[in-house]
Amino acid sequence: MCGIVGALTGRPAAPLMLDALRRLEYRGYDSAGLATIQDGKLHRRRAAGKLSELDAVVAADPLPGTSGVGHTRWATHGPPTVENAHPHIAGRVAVVHNGIIENYAELKAGLKADGVTFTSDTDTEVVAHLLDRAIRAGQTPQAAMAALMPRLTGAFAFVVLVAGEDDLLLAARRVSPLAIGLGDGEAFVGSDAVALAPLTRRIVYLEDGDWAVLRRSGVEVFRDAGVPVERREQISTVSAAMVGKGNYRHFMEKEIHEQPEAIAHTLNAVLDPGTGRATVPYPLDAPDIPKITIVAAGTSYYAGLAARYWFESLAGIATEVELASEFRDRDVVLPERGVTIAVTQSGESLDTLMAVRQAKALGQRILAIVNVPESTIARESDGVLLTRAGPEFGVASTKATAAQLTAFCALAIALGRANGRLSEERAIELRDALAGLPSRVGEALHHEARYVRIAHDLARARDVLYLGRGLSYPIALEGALKLKEITYVHAEGYAAGEMKHGPIALIDENVPVVIVAPTDRWFEKTASNVSEVRARGGRVILLTDAAGAERLGESDDHVVVLPTVDPVVAPILYLVPVQLLAYYAAVEKGTDADQPRNLAKSVTVE
Ligand code: F6R
Repeated sequence: MCGIVGALTGRPAAPLMLDALRRLEYRGYDSAGLATIQDGKLHRRRAAGKLSELDAVVAADPLPGTSGVGHTRWATHGPPTVENAHPHIAGRVAVVHNGIIENYAELKAGLKADGVTFTSDTDTEVVAHLLDRAIRAGQTPQAAMAALMPRLTGAFAFVVLVAGEDDLLLAARRVSPLAIGLGDGEAFVGSDAVALAPLTRRIVYLEDGDWAVLRRSGVEVFRDAGVPVERREQISTVSAAMVGKGNYRHFMEKEIHEQPEAIAHTLNAVLDPGTGRATVPYPLDAPDIPKITIVAAGTSYYAGLAARYWFESLAGIATEVELASEFRDRDVVLPERGVTIAVTQSGESLDTLMAVRQAKALGQRILAIVNVPESTIARESDGVLLTRAGPEFGVASTKATAAQLTAFCALAIALGRANGRLSEERAIELRDALAGLPSRVGEALHHEARYVRIAHDLARARDVLYLGRGLSYPIALEGALKLKEITYVHAEGYAAGEMKHGPIALIDENVPVVIVAPTDRWFEKTASNVSEVRARGGRVILLTDAAGAERLGESDDHVVVLPTVDPVVAPILYLVPVQLLAYYAAVEKGTDADQPRNLAKSVTVE
């Protein structure tokens, strides 16, 4: 988390860095800052709060210079004050940093013992002091960096600007991502290629453990204490046109409406255009896989829960789904020849990355289902299945989830065919159902008035329950997560069958209960739960299809009737109403759906 940027250009650096930071604000928005060089001296502006606060500071007091660094922060060490905002300056050195320097306390103690005074609570400031002292002692900035890198532990990325060095940036990457952009007589660095999209599409991705020296003429990459390495230049697939909100109020709204394309593009990538069949990617293509272990975080974990149903029922493969943050700290037992699937939008969630490394160390082969092809998890996995949702900026994941579910479902069908568990006839039906989803999802988007009316109630509730059974259970969990993260209304997702084991005590006329109930093999049981809620005065909000509405709908106002689809693909469709209910509730409450408090996208701390 935290977004970092650096620029060596011939133009004023501050406006273009502010623009790049806007595309990185999804990574954190507690405070922001810029530093530039003019006449050999460092100049800095910082502000607490969102980037708009820094915009105002810079508008009132413009920053000169054509080279600089910038930062948007998600606080780890120290509250989000101006003093803790980056860049941190010590003498001639300005640093912007993402991640955590784990041994900073020890380094700080040593510096303090030498009489250094600190002006912030951050771990970052030690990097600025250590480099500044080395440079003052006569080392070149590059030599100072080479000496520093082996002394740091943790998962981090940082960029350094040095007073008097107008044509130099130093950049380092340990786990946290960093992309270098090459322009015509210009060089840039950013937390991702999306930040740099309007500046250049010529990208050099640093590998874990790399550090680099940037000049306007190009970049040199090193490892450890200065061993040079070659890193290939690539053309980024992200264009400037992909990174705006268009006519939508929020990225989240735009991305929810992009789901028909996200599903269609993912299917096109997964299904062979000639045969219409999905090919099973390595390492899932091995015969007799004893077990699939899915590791993920947050919404991606819920996509994994749906995948378990599909892998078990369509392909008969034993599947476990693990929260990456728990998996990596347990003594997990995994079978020989097992496959671990990491599912992640960003490909950078540190918990998921560490789970991948742990599974690898335990002899598992790794498949990544990932939306960012150049991400760390994509590069560290044995096989990659790309979701094609396009860049996602809203902090709450939406279209990437639809793409993940689509990829998982197509994969389970292909596995079922490959091991003979699924008949070709049923496989064709299911592939047709998937192919029909972009249209069905498009139809589900068009109940705006109904969603707004229900969202009005949700926005006013103190607690909301979401219930679902079988394949609808992960959607209930997802609905609750979406609502709580963007509206701050407390919500819980439960397996509908669990209601009687506890949550039923919460039900009264003040607690809306959102029930996800397509007519599927679990429907009759869920119908009983609907009656139980209504019998206790609970307010049921029913998400169902025409048959379900006929069987259960009482008040039209609180029933959303979705298109009828094959129950196997229903979770992908039922994502739409839970996302839109949360989105419109956020609009109603006036919370910021794209940048909810305390959150950030791409969580690169543990
Ligand atoms: C919630 C949300 C998060 C992410 C989680 C994993 O709306 O977006 O829960 O799903 O942080 O992120 P990725 O998929 O990038 O690993």
